[in-house]
Amino acid sequence: MYSKIKTCVLQGLSGHIVEVEADLSRGLPVFNIVGLPDIAIKESKERVRTAIKNSGYEFPLNRITINLAPANLKKDGSQMDLSIAIGILSADGIIGIKDNSEIVFIGELSLDGKISPIDGALPMVISMRELNIKKCIIPFDNREECGIISDMEIIPVKNLNEVIDYLNGELILDSYKNEKIKIMENSEFSMDFSDIKGQEGLKRALEVAVAGNHNILIIGPPGSGKTMAARRLPTILPKLSFEEAVEVTKIYSVSGMLNSKSLITERPFRSPHHTASQVSIIGGGRIPRPGEVSLSHNGVLFLDELPEFQKNVLEVLRQPLEDGVVHISRINATLTYPAKFMFVASMNPCPCGFYGDPIHSCTCSQSSINRYLGRISNPLLDRIDIHIDVMPVEYEDLKVESNVETSAAIRSRVIRAQDIQIERYKNDKIYNNSQIPNKDIKKYCKLNNSSEKIIKNAFAKYKFSARTYNKLLKVARTIADLDSKEDIEDKHILEAIRYRTLDKKYWG
Ligand SMILES: Nc1ncnc2c1ncn2[C@@H]1O[C@H](COP(=O)(O)OP(=O)(O)O)[C@@H](O)[C@H]1O
Ligand SMILES: [Mg+2]
Repeated sequence: MYSKIKTCVLQGLSGHIVEVEADLSRGLPVFNIVGLPDIAIKESKERVRTAIKNSGYEFPLNRITINLAPANLKKDGSQMDLSIAIGILSADGIIGIKDNSEIVFIGELSLDGKISPIDGALPMVISMRELNIKKCIIPFDNREECGIISDMEIIPVKNLNEVIDYLNGELILDSYKNEKIKIMENSEFSMDFSDIKGQEGLKRALEVAVAGNHNILIIGPPGSGKTMAARRLPTILPKLSFEEAVEVTKIYSVSGMLNSKSLITERPFRSPHHTASQVSIIGGGRIPRPGEVSLSHNGVLFLDELPEFQKNVLEVLRQPLEDGVVHISRINATLTYPAKFMFVASMNPCPCGFYGDPIHSCTCSQSSINRYLGRISNPLLDRIDIHIDVMPVEYEDLKVESNVETSAAIRSRVIRAQDIQIERYKNDKIYNNSQIPNKDIKKYCKLNNSSEKIIKNAFAKYKFSARTYNKLLKVARTIADLDSKEDIEDKHILEAIRYRTLDKKYWG
């Protein structure tokens, strides 16, 4: 009257095995779950009881004890329903004597015995494979995402009866493999960089930023095309590798944003509104969810009108910008989600928007300008590799029709630079120049004597920080890669320095 099977819980993106022990003994009919279950798991008792009954079996009238081990691991999520039901049915003898203790069962039960899809199926299955589990029973509607995992048996099931029959050998279910997955090399977009007239400097800066995955801040008066240009970034982003796609898909799976799709094959582009809360940007909540910084992992996080964001939101961005991961504390654990994103921000230079504009005159007082710019702290500015200011489009530029480069043309240069970086870093577990660890900067961003002198003079003039110095070199590396040059040359370093002089102009 005892059984033991396995299920899984997630902490962040890593899945842990939970052993479900079920014991049926004589006594008054009670149903207890012990072993640090969350409130949601207590609710699962009612679902399990009703689902067993509605699948045509009698719910045992015994003293039922379910123990979830290890006891110190907090268990939450409705995915444990199925394992509890199977545990009870095994202890009751309805499921035969065969040992099922090496299968991991995940699935939520509905009252009629159907197995509903769950959030986070993909990261669970991937973790189980890493823990050497050979077989997982998963909800049918999670099969597309889980099916991208090979070398493991993935058995999708629709209802409790199917699982019982399968375990009793009365039904054969095949392992599911998603054959359709393919990373798209080219996507269709309704927007294009050729929509943007003039603004060559801005387009160049965006190309450099995208090519090396550098953060960028765009400053300029209203109507100059800042938002327009940023929204077109997805059309020139570099390709997503399979490994990167799996990382992104895991996050969307946990967030319940996969909508029974399989693999996410495009780089995310997220642009939360400036009223967004700290939790929605960083992640958290009672059941901690990844925030925008993680949803834009391996893609772009675009904050339009940066100074309008709450000050505390801007400050908490600093940590993920630096570390590429975000830590969310909860009562008895700290969760970590990946958050390696390209940060893109746009802003007006002052409240009225026309400070520094050659045509319109700015009506703001110096103190209100200072207050406005002061919302962006120096440590945050320091983490942005490229600063670019834009002026209103010239009439002449707006008028011309022809000869504007398309996104496809820009993207092909970006991809060429990406290929150079992938080849260069193939043994370093990084993908692009922005990720060069500080210890390797000397190795990959060598300067000749004259470039060395240029950067030394710029340092004296602009009083750069040490972080800026490293970022400058990485940007220069990207500019050289776009130029297909092995060595960083003077003009590359000069362009990189130009992208860091703006903060002095506005922030002095
Ligand atoms: N360089 C440009 N080329 C073509 N249209 C532009 C350009 N700049 C601005 N516009 C037009 O002006 C509108 C407002 O631009 P927007 O990007 O919102 O400005 P900003 O974000 O800088 O305030 C755009 O939707 C577009 O129609
Ligand atoms: Mg705008």
